[in-house]
Formats: sequence, structure tokens, C-alpha cells
Amino acid sequence: MKKILVTGGLGYIGSHTAVELQLEGYEVIIIDDLSNSNQQVVDGITTITGLVPTFVKLDLKDKTAVSDFFNRYSGIEGIIHFAASKAVGESVQRPLLYYENNITALVYLLQEVEKHQISNFIFSSSCTVYGEADQLPITEQAPIKVAMSPYGNTKQIGEEIIQDTCKISSVLKAISLRYFNPIGAHESAAIGELPLGVPQNLLPFITQTAIGKREQLTVFGDTYDTPDGTCVRDYIHVVDLAKAHVIALNRLINNQNTSSYEFFNLGTGKGSSVLEVIQSFERVSGVKLNCKIGERREGDVTAIFADTKKANEILGWKAEKTLDEATLSAWNWEQKINRS
Ligand code: UD1
Repeated sequence: MKKILVTGGLGYIGSHTAVELQLEGYEVIIIDDLSNSNQQVVDGITTITGLVPTFVKLDLKDKTAVSDFFNRYSGIEGIIHFAASKAVGESVQRPLLYYENNITALVYLLQEVEKHQISNFIFSSSCTVYGEADQLPITEQAPIKVAMSPYGNTKQIGEEIIQDTCKISSVLKAISLRYFNPIGAHESAAIGELPLGVPQNLLPFITQTAIGKREQLTVFGDTYDTPDGTCVRDYIHVVDLAKAHVIALNRLINNQNTSSYEFFNLGTGKGSSVLEVIQSFERVSGVKLNCKIGERREGDVTAIFADTKKANEILGWKAEKTLDEATLSAWNWEQKINRS
């Protein structure tokens, strides 16, 4: 079995990807510092697949520990790098924390990749690299604009660091995957999103309001230039997203890539407004949400959704699940974590 290292593998997207990797026959080694996750996620992964991933608690900012890890675990065939901080607002308040967590850690990881001549590297990037788009849907040719937050900047810089490393490496091939808005949970409700504190993202806020943990959902503005006045995003089911990572990894392992560094948008291609997401949730859950229209949130873009042609035709991946499936799985997960 080929060994794949998943950094941040107990996090939201990392854990769903660990599952898909195991189902595809890969041996999964997870490293995670548990800063925004918990070790019980290992049990969730095992419940779904019947296979126990290797878990090593490790902080990627600890250079010696990273080096020791790679000396101990030899024969790693590929790496999927999720470990990073991801809250846009927090990154504005604490930029240096974000540069340390997202950039320093990446550099240490790539130094080991070079040293151990590991060939296959997948990077967790974001549609935030495009900033405020001039044209929708967004293709991969869209210009990379000045980042709108330190978080977004770490994704831009991260991609550049990887690309520069690919240029000088004789073995390294990498793919950056630019996610749109991941939502939902595994259909088993054994794993899902576990936001700490008050959720910043729409779906966890909706499900926590529905279950009674939050009193009211505020829709951030209804005067945008969109059909119903609320912001439009491309919401993609996390399981579809996880599957794209396995496909990207297979592409590298089978040498199907056309250059040593590639990047793809991962979205559904369909934009949904905040109100449409709320309606979807209410339809599948049968719960009427307590919500109000509030002020715009600073930094929000009006609309963003993916052109999926490159991912569909070149990567050979397409999102399959619907918005209703995603909102229902998020609701099942919220109910499950409240029972346990
Ligand atoms: C942003 C980033 C994304 C990043 C993510 C992580 C962009 C384009 N996207 O996504 O790269 O990974 O943050 O946090 O920069 N909303 C409400 N009420 C709420 C919460 C959200 O109305 O209580 C609305 C927002 O205004 C937005 C939509 O829901 O229109 C989605 O918001 P959110 O889930 O926070 O994601 P983004 O801001 O799109």
C-alpha cells in the first residue's frame, strides 16, 4: 500500500480526504497539532472505513520534530498539505500568527520533501487568491489580485513557494487546489465540521441556530447587486472536495500531469445566494430558521463562483452532490454532535 501523509488530517477537509484515501487503498498517516481539531476524529474516520489511520501529534512549526518525523516514517509516496489557520477575520488581527502557521510550516515541510525526495504534493489553496473578480465564473486564468486578507496572502505566497520549489526540484510535482466554499459532512455523520467558538462561516451558523446554540442568524446584507440582493457563493460538498484530492494525487503518482506545477478550481460552477442556502436548509431539515437581515460584513465580495471546465476536463473530476444533500448532511452532523 502506498503511504500518504495528510497534514491537518483531523481537520474538516483533511478528515474527509483521509477517508477517501483509505477507500482508494492508500495507507494514511495523519499529522495534526490538534490546535483546531480533536483526536476523536481518528475514531470517526475508522468508523467509516474500518481502517485505523496512523496519527502523530506534531506541530509543523517545530523544525526538529518535522525532521525527526520524516526520518522515522520512510517511504512516504505523497503529501496532502491541509494544516493551516483559516479564519479570515482572525488573520487581519493576528497576521504574524498566520504567516508563521501557514508559511513557516510549509517551508519546513518542503525542506523535508526535498531532503527525502518525495515527488507528489497537493496543496490546500482557496478561491480567495482571486480577490474581487472582474469576470464570473472565475477561470484559472483570472489574475491573482492583491490579497484581501493575510489569510488570503498566505495562500498566494504558499502557491508561489511550491511553484518555485517545483522549478528547481528534479523530482517534485505539485497541484494546488483552489476551493470555493466547502460545506456539509460525511453522510454517515461520523465526521464533519467542528468550529471552535462562534462560527464565522454560514453553514455552521445555520445549523447551530437551528439546534438552538445560537439565537438568530444574521444575513449580512441584502442590497448587493445579485438576484435577491444577498451574496452569491459556490458551495461545494466536502465529500466531493475530498474526492478531488484523491484524483489529483493519482494524477501525480501516475505521472499524468502536464507540468510540474498545476492548479485547479474546485467548485460546482453554480452560485447560490445566502437566502437560497437558508431555503435549502429549511426544506431538507423542516426547521424554520430565526433569521434577520443585517449590515454588510466588511470584506465580503458580492459574488464568486467557479468555472469548472479545467477541473472537469483535465483533472477528470466533477462535483456530484447537490446543495440540498450538503445542507442535509450538515444538519445530520449537527444533530449527531449534540447527542454525543
Ligand atoms: C471566506 C473565503 C474563503 C475562506 C473562508 C474561510 C473568500 C471569497 N472566501 O469565505 O476563501 O476559506 O472565508 O472562513 O474570501 N454569511 C451570513 N451570515 C453569517 C455568515 C455568513 O450572511 O452568519 C454570508 C456571508 O456574508 C457570505 C456567505 O454567507 O456571503 C458565506 O460566508 P462564509 O461562510 O463566511 O464564507 P466566505 O466569506 O464566502
